[in-house]
Amino acid sequence: MTRQAVLQSATYTLNHRPTSVRSARACTRRTLAAWALLDIADDVTLLVSELVTNAIVHTADAVRCQIELALNLSGRTLRADITDHGHSWPGPMEPPRAVPDDESGRGLTVVNSLADKWGVELLPDGKTVWFLITVRRAVPCLRPSRTPSPRWPGIAPADHG
Ligand SMILES: Nc1ncnc2c1ncn2[C@@H]1O[C@H](COP(=O)(O)OP(=O)(O)OP(=O)(O)O)[C@@H](O)[C@H]1O
Ligand SMILES: [Mg+2]
Repeated sequence: MTRQAVLQSATYTLNHRPTSVRSARACTRRTLAAWALLDIADDVTLLVSELVTNAIVHTADAVRCQIELALNLSGRTLRADITDHGHSWPGPMEPPRAVPDDESGRGLTVVNSLADKWGVELLPDGKTVWFLITVRRAVPCLRPSRTPSPRWPGIAPADHG
């Protein structure tokens, strides 16, 4: 197996409530630790935190729906997908619109700054906001492993590793 063929995958289902942001951060950090990727854990956790927050606060029409967080490592590329079931999206937003005195509108600016690439896929019943971060050092050749078991209420992990 070559390094490019390494694939790790973890998926979490989050309830549509503010406490899920903390849970998403914990799941992300724990997953990256299990994949020996702590050097990018701060950046990835911050971006996941911003996007899960958005998926909760900007989707009042989807309060009964859950939010999915997927983390995938392929070669040196870490991809995160945050899927919500709200139907609103303000449209093309590059470059993000925040200016220095704005009190909001910073989340996607942060994503734009830290992620190597990001985007939005509109779905029939919502949207996925995704980003890529390149791992700067060599990724250890991990064998597929089970996703760390959940310790947070309201989270159901699905393991594709
Ligand atoms: N998942 C989403 N669903 C619907 N609209 C979204 C979503 N994420 C972002 N948006 C829209 O994009 C805008 C910009 O998002 P961004 O995260 O940059 O700023 P914010 O959430 O308004 O403020 P901040 O993140 O600084 O607290 C939001 O105000 C909202 O209109
Ligand atoms: Mg935001």
